[in-house]
Amino acid sequence: MEKKIINLGIFGFGVVGQGLYEVLNRTKGINARIKKICIKDPNKARPIDASYFTTDPNDILNDPTIDVVVELINNTEDAYQIVSTALRNGKAVVSASKRMIAENLPALYQLQVENRVPFLYEASSCASIPIIRNLEEYYDNDLLNAVEGICNGSTNYILTKIFEDNLSFDTALQQAQDLGFAETDPTLDIEGHDPKFKIVILLLHAFGTFVKPEEVYNFGISHLNDFDIQFAKQRGCTIKLIGSCRRSNGHVNAYVLPHLIKEHNLLYDVYNEYNGILLESAFTDKQFFVGKGAGGTATGSAVLSDISALLYNYRYEYKKIIQNNSPIFTNDVQLKVYLRYKSPDQVDLSAFYNISEKYESPTYRYVVGVINLQKLKEANWLKNKEVNLLVLE
Ligand code: HSE
Repeated sequence: MEKKIINLGIFGFGVVGQGLYEVLNRTKGINARIKKICIKDPNKARPIDASYFTTDPNDILNDPTIDVVVELINNTEDAYQIVSTALRNGKAVVSASKRMIAENLPALYQLQVENRVPFLYEASSCASIPIIRNLEEYYDNDLLNAVEGICNGSTNYILTKIFEDNLSFDTALQQAQDLGFAETDPTLDIEGHDPKFKIVILLLHAFGTFVKPEEVYNFGISHLNDFDIQFAKQRGCTIKLIGSCRRSNGHVNAYVLPHLIKEHNLLYDVYNEYNGILLESAFTDKQFFVGKGAGGTATGSAVLSDISALLYNYRYEYKKIIQNNSPIFTNDVQLKVYLRYKSPDQVDLSAFYNISEKYESPTYRYVVGVINLQKLKEANWLKNKEVNLLVLE
């Protein structure tokens, strides 16, 4: 991009849009200015001058003076339409829409190749942590073995409030919503869909493997109860919702599952809306990235960093796809888990490879044992709210 000052056309003025506005205003020396903001509801009160706003997407998509389209809306289908039209119109695009990106990665990759325009989305995964650019640039070889950690701010906020402040799940969730961390539909957070979208994106940049979100198993924290919390505390552990992708023997597995985390684990001390990502590579062992994973200005900062990167012609090269050595996705991996339930007819213990511990009381039962991830994915009985699962370290 040769221009000295780039004109931005923004779609959406919710938590992230307003965060970006604030970050842009407070960043001296950034050569970018907002030309138009496309919104859905013209009657909603807005904190900035009305002249910024339009309800017609074409005011941005067809304006030749707008260099960069910034897509920050909620609706996945509309977001894809905006992003794909902008790329076809030869505009650079920055987006934070993890679901839209995860569900359309092959098509979005193709659009970038065909139209030779950059599409950046650092804010989509772990907000302020520059993880995608690190996977692209620093880890541009095939020595990475694992990318895993906390990649949802809302659930980490809820778990922190439960474990540190003894708040109830519902109160903590309400706070996460009030603070603008949670999705409009918070079941996307608490059932682990949102971190799954991020894992699908990270998996492509870490290993070059395209995976559809529905191939990846997610089980969130909505079944968690006091018995599970006591189980964790008695073992000196906390609980974190972990997204994981791990390579082994030409394959890569991925999932989002709640884990029991011991105190020595670097993820133990990641609190509130912070995210933490552990990378494992052949020669460096573990490396740890931590930062705010949700919230308007934290996410806005990542969007701003992408806008700024466009000023020096940065684009993702997807080197691992091009290296053509990508591991094949699999759910065939054994996990050691704690399974809590009320009565034996609620679960199918024959799905376990082995069981090493069994507990029974009039109120709750649990087993600890090894089970295949594919079996978990197929287990309809895990949808029962009275059944909960935790992965053990
Ligand atoms: N709802 C998301 C989260 C927002 O809590 O992490 C940031 O992607």
